Amino acid sequence: PGIRPLIAGNWKMHGTLRDAAALAEAVRAGAPAGVDLLICPPFVHLHVVAAAMLGQPVAVGGQDCHAAAKGAHTGDVAAVMLRDVGATHVILGHSERRADHGETDAGVRAKAEAAIGAGLTPIICVGETLAQREAGEAEAVVAAQVKGSLPEGFLAAGGVVAYEPVWAIGTGRTPTEADIAAIHAVLRGLTSPATRLLYGGSVKPANAKAILGLPHVDGALVGGASLVAADFLAIAGAA
Ligand code: G3H
Repeated sequence: PGIRPLIAGNWKMHGTLRDAAALAEAVRAGAPAGVDLLICPPFVHLHVVAAAMLGQPVAVGGQDCHAAAKGAHTGDVAAVMLRDVGATHVILGHSERRADHGETDAGVRAKAEAAIGAGLTPIICVGETLAQREAGEAEAVVAAQVKGSLPEGFLAAGGVVAYEPVWAIGTGRTPTEADIAAIHAVLRGLTSPATRLLYGGSVKPANAKAILGLPHVDGALVGGASLVAADFLAIAGAA
């Protein structure tokens, strides 16, 4: 038996509390067997969604956390706080955070250490820009990000790596299947046989089966399509 697939929905900065509750309930009600589902709402919706998912087969995670356990960090949220309200996972180093908030590999590594210490499963995002892809640097960039962002103990803690080419996020463009497989082979070599490796970037019901069938692709990190329950469930059904 291989690795059980994980289909994760990153809701990013969308929706009202009412939208979040309804979307979570629709995902719960339609969750297929044989695949792990995770939803990552905005911080302010997380507690309510996590409470609704208690005892349900859908896990809940944060979209970021701070590296410190507490302190004077206005606007930030600690990993232990996410755990306290029922999160089990946290997305770290998403390219939108690397771009919007200047996050670095070293910063992501510190956050991942805090997440593991708090009992959360970190999902570390890596991926090249279009310029890096066109320069033939994609594999080197991703390898450097993995080496710089994954703390010691990450693999033993069941940490997850998500390959998200920056140019494929929210654009409707995806790498070729061969290109995804090539990066995932690199990721496998840098991690462990048991590490879950997700692909993210314009995953839709129409391309999910082909992408999820590639070697060393153990699931998906879904943005836009995770905001539509039927689409998210269709992607989960393809895993
Ligand atoms: O975290 C999710 C990714 O950034 C993918 O977003 O599915 O909207 O392209 P997308």
